[in-house]
Amino acid sequence: MSKKSKENQSQVTFPRLKIRPETEEDFTKITEVNDLAFGQKNEGILVERLRETERFVSELSLVAELEGKIVGYILFYPVTILSADSEFLSLSLGPMAVIPELQRLGIGSQLVSEGLHAVKRLGHRSVIVLGHPEYYPRFGFKPASRWNIKAPFDAPDEAFMALELVDNELTGKSGAVEYPEEFTDAS
Ligand SMILES: CC(C)(COP(=O)(O)OP(=O)(O)OC[C@H]1O[C@@H](n2cnc3c(N)ncnc32)[C@H](O)[C@@H]1OP(=O)(O)O)[C@@H](O)C(=O)NCCC(=O)NCCS
Repeated sequence: MSKKSKENQSQVTFPRLKIRPETEEDFTKITEVNDLAFGQKNEGILVERLRETERFVSELSLVAELEGKIVGYILFYPVTILSADSEFLSLSLGPMAVIPELQRLGIGSQLVSEGLHAVKRLGHRSVIVLGHPEYYPRFGFKPASRWNIKAPFDAPDEAFMALELVDNELTGKSGAVEYPEEFTDAS
């Protein structure tokens, strides 16, 4: 694909793309979208297992629907950030998936942007992500190390990121992110 047509393609927007919370009818399709996007079953199974946990909130489990078809998915899952003398709640972003034939057209970015607005409206104050360091900074994510927030596993500094949804929410905070065991089992 020429550079020009790639540029044009990345500007495609999907006005009819609807980002909405999952419902029970979407469960099978969400697993399928994850399987297709990741080319393996781990993330689809992870979502199914997390759905059974107490902390899972369906308003934080969002699908991207285009013309009645589920083409993308993003999950925000509540996590605790724990240090020797404090703990606070945040959200972890992921898994996120877009079906292969519609990747790199902006659907993922719409999922992240609208997802972040939705979780902020629901009162959440920060988000953590382990992801592509060239992707998430465009939404305001910065290396979590600047707040001394750490992953409980080895992760490249620039790939483990945090975002304040409320100004200075993470100032003076620090700690290690506690993921439920389902995340560890899936990796
Ligand atoms: C990552 C993903 C959800 C992004 O959705 P999308 O609709 O393709 O994203 P957008 O079109 O909004 O943005 C494209 C950007 O995503 C980033 N990106 C997408 N796939 C990437 C990959 N495999 N490696 C690095 N960056 C990637 C790039 O920065 C790309 O920007 P560019 O096209 O200017 O290079 C989608 O590509 C996907 O499902 N990938 C497979 C699963 C995955 O890796 N999920 C993320 C980890 S939880």
